Amino acid sequence: MSVFRTKSIEQTLAAAEDEHHHLKKRLTALDLTVFGIGVIIGAGIFTLTGRAARDYAGPSIALSFAIGAIVCGLAALCYAEFASTVPISGSAYTFSYATLGELVAWIIGWDLLLEMMLGASVVAQGWSQYFVTFLSQIGVTWPESIGPGSHFDLASFLLIAALTALIAYGIKESMRVNLVLVGVKLFIVVFVIIAGLFYINRDNWSPFIPPAAPGAAAEGLTTPLFQWVTGVTPSTFGVLGIMAGAAIVFFAYIGFDVVATTAEEAKNPQRDLPIGIIGSLVVCTILYMAVSFVITGMVKYTEIDPKAALATAFLDVGQNGFATLISAGAVAGLTTVVMTLMIGGTRVTFAMSRDWLLPEKLGETHPKTGTPIRLTVIIGVTCALIASLTPIGKLEEMVNIGTLSAFLLVSLAIPILRKRRPDLKRSFKVPGSPVVPWLSALLCFYLILNLSIETWLRFLVWMLIGFGIYFAYSRSHSRLATGDEFGQTEQRGMPQMLDEG
Ligand code: ALA
Repeated sequence: MSVFRTKSIEQTLAAAEDEHHHLKKRLTALDLTVFGIGVIIGAGIFTLTGRAARDYAGPSIALSFAIGAIVCGLAALCYAEFASTVPISGSAYTFSYATLGELVAWIIGWDLLLEMMLGASVVAQGWSQYFVTFLSQIGVTWPESIGPGSHFDLASFLLIAALTALIAYGIKESMRVNLVLVGVKLFIVVFVIIAGLFYINRDNWSPFIPPAAPGAAAEGLTTPLFQWVTGVTPSTFGVLGIMAGAAIVFFAYIGFDVVATTAEEAKNPQRDLPIGIIGSLVVCTILYMAVSFVITGMVKYTEIDPKAALATAFLDVGQNGFATLISAGAVAGLTTVVMTLMIGGTRVTFAMSRDWLLPEKLGETHPKTGTPIRLTVIIGVTCALIASLTPIGKLEEMVNIGTLSAFLLVSLAIPILRKRRPDLKRSFKVPGSPVVPWLSALLCFYLILNLSIETWLRFLVWMLIGFGIYFAYSRSHSRLATGDEFGQTEQRGMPQMLDEG
């Protein structure tokens, strides 16, 4: 019963071939790119950019975005190779089960769960922030006692409750709804860039890289681990501020990996997944850098609103109508991010329960809706409680550390799989392997080091819980451990959620 046992690629592919349940292959490269943009553009650009610019990098936050893009780009190449080799739902979890063994797969699955569940909660809080801003712009006051930052953020709770019901019911139209909302979101982002150009004051860009200085964002447990380990005086801004900023705005890129979870539904996954993953990343990078230039040009970085930066920037220049439009667009746009991350979370846990690493019963799909209702409700309730009861403060850093760890492991897995299974058909190959995948792993690790000490501590607790569950339950119950050959007992396919695209 080794934790290094792997599920073969053939077993993985066979597990998804149940004729009664497997998903229809309908998504094209364009669908996947749109899907990617739909989940990528969210709270990261609408709220986090402002805070990261104000607290860490100033106008040079644009450089933080460039660094984030390089790290994600390299990881995206690795994801694309994996997805083109093992086009099965479950994303990195599934890939690693077939290459690095069960324990690593469990760790990645556990990290992805952190990414998607906490990610959904963080974005729900960003949503609630923009929702309340929007209401106040149209003259409606949302009570502060149940607003964002209070003891109970009712708006984010209601959003997640509604989305959970929708996902459990089976959102057959989700791709179409997604398309419309992505359109709205793209329009708003492009609008911010173009309208903002007219209000840029070049003086706000100087100094472009504010000199390093002590700041609340680098004190005690909030000090980036890298600064603590290397013994430099903790500081924000300067070059280290750009790096710390990159580790934070990395959040804005999260989501391209979720494209890989739709692998079973792609028409031509070997060709279309790499296009979808890399295409959505390229589009978002260009938009993010442009938005950061515009916002830091419109408002002095010290004055940027850390909560609803884009809308407030237009309020500050007296364009209240624009601000209302941006808030409305953000509310619509962030909804899809929360929804997609929640779907991603149910898919990863579904794949884990299909392998019996989680109780098989949890993943059972409802005969009518074709969705795993139990898992959906569990994930929905958890996200709703986190979003409504915990402070947004450091949550997104937790999401980042979970995602970066998964990226790191995926990058390491590429050369391993190449060596172990040179025979597999790979329609997309990372150029320059093994150097590029190693570089990707190294950069991910470097960004992880730039996250705060408290994030590391929280992550360690999360991992300890994960190991506890694995060794107490999953290791002895998994399909591989119990000797149940894939394909012998009835296989359940993935839930039919994006089926009717
Ligand atoms: N990238 C997503 C966002 O920024 C998670 O909201």
